[in-house]
Amino acid sequence: MAAPGLGAEPIRVLELGCGQGLSANIIAAANPHIDYTAIDFNPEHIAGAQALAKDAGAPNVRFIEASFEQIAEDTSFTPFDVITLHGIYTWVSAENRAHIIRVARDKLKTGGLLYVSYNCYPGWSPVIPIRCIFTDTSEVSPKEPIFDRLAEGLRLFDRLKDIKARYIGATPGLVERMEQVKKLQRNYVAHEYLNGEWTIFHSPEVAADMARAKLSYGSAHLLDHVDGINLTAEQSQFLAEIKDSTRREYFRDLIVNQQFRRDIFVKGTQRLGFLTARDKWLDLRLVLSVPAADLPKTVKGALGEAKLQDEVYEPIVAKLDGQPKTVRELLANPSIANLQLQQALIVLLGQGKCHIALPSSGESGDAGCCRPDAAQFVWDVLKSHVQKLIKEGKTVESARNRRKVSSRTWGGFVNPEGAIKRGKLNDACTSSLLGDRISLASPRVRAIGRAIGFVFGRRPECGPEGHVSR
Ligand SMILES: C[S@@+](CC[C@H](N)C(=O)[O-])C[C@H]1O[C@@H](n2cnc3c(N)ncnc32)[C@H](O)[C@@H]1O
Repeated sequence: MAAPGLGAEPIRVLELGCGQGLSANIIAAANPHIDYTAIDFNPEHIAGAQALAKDAGAPNVRFIEASFEQIAEDTSFTPFDVITLHGIYTWVSAENRAHIIRVARDKLKTGGLLYVSYNCYPGWSPVIPIRCIFTDTSEVSPKEPIFDRLAEGLRLFDRLKDIKARYIGATPGLVERMEQVKKLQRNYVAHEYLNGEWTIFHSPEVAADMARAKLSYGSAHLLDHVDGINLTAEQSQFLAEIKDSTRREYFRDLIVNQQFRRDIFVKGTQRLGFLTARDKWLDLRLVLSVPAADLPKTVKGALGEAKLQDEVYEPIVAKLDGQPKTVRELLANPSIANLQLQQALIVLLGQGKCHIALPSSGESGDAGCCRPDAAQFVWDVLKSHVQKLIKEGKTVESARNRRKVSSRTWGGFVNPEGAIKRGKLNDACTSSLLGDRISLASPRVRAIGRAIGFVFGRRPECGPEGHVSR
C-alpha cells in the first residue's frame, strides 16, 4: 500500500508522549528529510529532550510541552504525514485516548499513517488478577515507597503459590511468568503493574477507536507477518479463510497468544498497482546495522525458535554487510531468489539487524563530516564516562582487542546485544555519542544514523515484557 516518506521526500511526523525524546532525537538526526514534532506533558522530559537535540545539533526536531488534550484543541498545526505513539495507549485514561483519537482525526493528513502499540488479549489475561494484587497492595499502603509496594505484591503472589491458591494451579505458566517478572527492571515492572491506568485491549477495540478517526487497519509488526515462524499450516489455512483484516488479526492474536501489538493504521488506504509496488520494492535500499558475524542464526516466533537457513541468508547478508544495496542489486545475484529475499529481509528488518537506508543521492556530501576513526571516538567517550565494552561476555580492555571489536561499522561496534548492553549507557554518555552522530554516520553507510536508534534503544523505563523496547 502507499506510504508517505518512502524514499526521502520531506514528511512531517508527530510523536505523542515522547518521554525523554531519545527516539525522537535519533530518528530526526538520522532522517534529515523528516520534520519531527514530539510532545509530552512532563516538563522534565521535554527540557531533557530539548537539551539533547541541542547537543546533537538536530535542527529538524522540536519538542513541545503539551498534553494530548492541548494538542487536540490546538488548531495551529499543519496536518502530519505520520503520527506515532509508543507505550501510551494502554497506560492512559479513556479520556486521554479520546484526545488521541481527536488528534488522529484532525491532524493526520489523508493518506497518512498512525503507529500505535498496546497491551492486548489474550496474552495478558492470565496476569490480570496479579495486577490487582499489586494495585490492591498500593491502595492499602499508598505511602510506602513504590519498590516496597512491588516487593510486597511479589511476596503475596509467592504466599498464594505456597498455600496452593487454585487460580495459580489453574493457570499454566503463571509461576514461570512471575519468576521472569522478578528479573525485570523494577522501573518497568512498576510502570506495568502499578500505573493508575492500564487497559488491555482486544485488537478490534483499538481498530474501532481508530475507525472513529477514519483510520483503517494497515499492518502490524514485521515479524508477525512471517507465517512460517508463527503459524502451523493448519492455522494459516484457518486465517486465510477470514476475509476481514480486523477479524483475521483478532483470530491470529488468539492463535499466537498475542500480548503486545504494534499496529499501523492508515487514513485512506491506497493499494498500489502491481508495477508501482514492484518498482518500490526493487528500489528499496537496505543495509546491515551489525556486522554479519554478529547476526543471530535463529529467529523467534510464536512457534518457538527457527533456524535461519545459511543457503538463503549468507548471500544476502554478504551483500548487505557494510554498504547499502537496493533489492534490485540484490536480485542481480543469481543465488538470491525474490520470494526468499522478501522473507529474509522481513526477518532481518524485524529483528532490527538491517535497516532501510536513505537513497544514495547526496551520499558523498557527507564525506566531509565523517570522523576518520569512529571506533576510537566511541571508545574515548565510553572511557570518559567510565563505561566498558563487553564482547562475548568479557570486558574488552586491550587496544588490540578493541581494534578487533571496532574494525567494523560503529553500528556493529556498539550493537545492543553484542558490545554494550542496551540501557547501561548513562545519559551524558549517550548524549556525547549522539551529539556527534552525524560525524559518525559514515558516508559509506548513511543508514547507520537510523541504526543508532537500535544502538542505544529506548530507555529501560519501558522494559522487555510489555511495550518492549525493541
Ligand atoms: C511510558 S512513557 C513512553 C515514552 C516513549 N513513548 C517511549 O516509548 O519510550 C509515557 C509518556 O507519556 C507521557 N504522557 C502520559 N500522559 C500524557 C498526556 N495526557 N499528555 C501528554 N503526555 C502524556 C508521559 O509523560 C510519559 O513520558
